[in-house]
Amino acid sequence: MPKTTDLPVKDDDIENQTLTSEEIEKESPQGESLPAPHPVGQSSEPTVSACLPFKLPNYPPPPFGKALRPHFFLSSTSTPLNHGSFGSIPRFVEQTHAHFRAWVEASPDSFISLNLRNLSETALECAGELVNADPKNLVFVHNVTSGVNCVLRSLRQLAEAHARRAEKYELNKLKLLKKRNKILILSINHEGVKQAIKYIAKIDNFEVREIPLTYPISDSALISRVRAAIDDTVLLANFEIISTLPSVILPYERLIRLCQGHGIMVMIDAAHALGQVPVNIRNCSPDFLVCNTHKWFFSARPVGILYVDPKWQQYVHPTIPTYGTGNFKDEFSWMGTVDYTTYLTIPVAREWRRWLGGEEVIRQHNHKLAVEGGRRIAEMLGTEVLLGLGRTGTGADHGEALIPAMVNVRLPTQERSEEYMKRFQKELIIRHQASVTVFKHGGRWWIRVSAQVYNDIEDFEQLGQWILEMLTSEDEKDKYATELPDLDLPFSTTLLTPEILSKL
Ligand SMILES: Cc1ncc(COP(=O)(O)O)c(C=O)c1O
Repeated sequence: MPKTTDLPVKDDDIENQTLTSEEIEKESPQGESLPAPHPVGQSSEPTVSACLPFKLPNYPPPPFGKALRPHFFLSSTSTPLNHGSFGSIPRFVEQTHAHFRAWVEASPDSFISLNLRNLSETALECAGELVNADPKNLVFVHNVTSGVNCVLRSLRQLAEAHARRAEKYELNKLKLLKKRNKILILSINHEGVKQAIKYIAKIDNFEVREIPLTYPISDSALISRVRAAIDDTVLLANFEIISTLPSVILPYERLIRLCQGHGIMVMIDAAHALGQVPVNIRNCSPDFLVCNTHKWFFSARPVGILYVDPKWQQYVHPTIPTYGTGNFKDEFSWMGTVDYTTYLTIPVAREWRRWLGGEEVIRQHNHKLAVEGGRRIAEMLGTEVLLGLGRTGTGADHGEALIPAMVNVRLPTQERSEEYMKRFQKELIIRHQASVTVFKHGGRWWIRVSAQVYNDIEDFEQLGQWILEMLTSEDEKDKYATELPDLDLPFSTTLLTPEILSKL
C-alpha cells in the first residue's frame, strides 16, 4: 500500500500567507520526494487514504485570485479565463497523479494486477459521495463523450428492454402499440454530443427531434417547449445541467420528471456540473448521467463518470467491448492498456478543494466573480450579459441565477464573419495569452468567460480592454480584414512551470 499520512493537516497558528511558486515548491508536498520504494504489495483494505499519499499544505490557502495562480501550472503571464473548456490541475493534485504514474512505471504488475481495482473502487466511492449515488451504479469512462457514446451505442438494446418493461408493467397498452424511436435534444446541447446522437440515429434507425432554443428564455417557457415536443414515440431525451454555449443552468430536475412521467428515458450530460453546482443523483433519478471531474473539479485529465440506473445496467456496454462477464461493473473495469491513474486523483482533488474552503466557498466566489466580471466587460463594450427570464434565485437580478461560474457577454461585432471571429479568439491567445470561448447565438456574437479561484476582477477588466482594442480600433479592423498566418499556441505540448515560462 502507498505510504499515507493523516489528513487534513491544519495549523491554526500559521498566518495567512501568500507564497511564490518557488516557496510552494519548497514548503508544500510538491517539494517532498515521492514515497520510495513504490509499494509492491497488494492493497487489502482500500480506504480513501490510499489515494492520498501526501499531506495537504501546512499553511492556510492564499486569498482567491492571482495569489492562488502559482498553485496551478498556469503561466504567470497568461490571463486564463476559459477554465470551462479544459480545466486546469492544481500542483498538489498533479503531485499525487505523478505518484501513481511513477508507481505504474516502478512496478506495473504491482500497480495494475494487485492494486488498481481496489484503488479505482476507492476513487469511485469518493465519486459516489460527490454525486450522491451508490458507487455500485457508477463506472469510470474516459470522459463525457465516451460515457454518452456508451449509452448511445447501447440504445437498441435499451429500446427493446424499455418496450419489454413497459409491457410487463402493463403501462398504457394502447400507447405501447407505437414504437418509441425518437431521441429528443435541445439545439443548445453540446455540439459533439449532438453529432454523436445524430450519427447513432442514422446507423440505428432512430429519429432526432431537436427543439430550437434561443436565450434569453424562461425556465417555464423552456419546459413548455419540451412538453410540446414529447409524445409516446420519444424513447430518450438528452439534457444538460449546465449548457456549454451559451452557458446557462438548465432546469434539468423538472425536465427529468416531465420526461420520465411520459415513459421517456433521460440522459443527463453533467459535463460542467461537478465543481460548479451540486449534483444529487438520488434526488433527481436520471436513467443515465455522465459527468467529468477534469473540467471544474480539479482532477487530472481525463476522468469521466457514468451513472446507469440499475434497471438498465445489463443493457449498457462499453463502446469498446473487451473482457467482462455481462456484468456492468466488470465490463467497464478494464478498457485495455490506458492510463487509469487520472481516476485516482478524485479524492485528492476533493481534499485540495476542502483546503481552499470547500465547495460552497468556491462556488460563491466563482459565481459572484462571473456575474460582476461579466457585467464589467459588458459595460466596457457597451453590450450586455445574457440573463434568464423569470428565474427565481439569488442575485440582484434574478436572471443571474442562470449564471454558474461562466458568463456570456455579447460582443459589439455582429457583422463579423465566422472566420474572422475564429481568428479573433486565436489572436487573443497569441497576443495576450488570454483565453475565452467565442460563439454565435441568436444571430449574435458572444464570449463565454469562466471565473475560477485563480481569477479576479482585474482579469475580466484586462480582457475587456484587449477586446475593445482588438475589435474597435480602425487599425485592428484592417489587420483582421487581411489573412492572418495560421499561428499555433506557443506552449501547447510541454508541461511548463511559471518559472520556465517566465524565462521564455
Ligand atoms: C455539455 C458538454 N457535454 C460534453 C462535453 C464533452 O466533455 P468531455 O471533454 O469530458 O468528453 C462538453 C465539453 O465541453 C460539454 O460542455
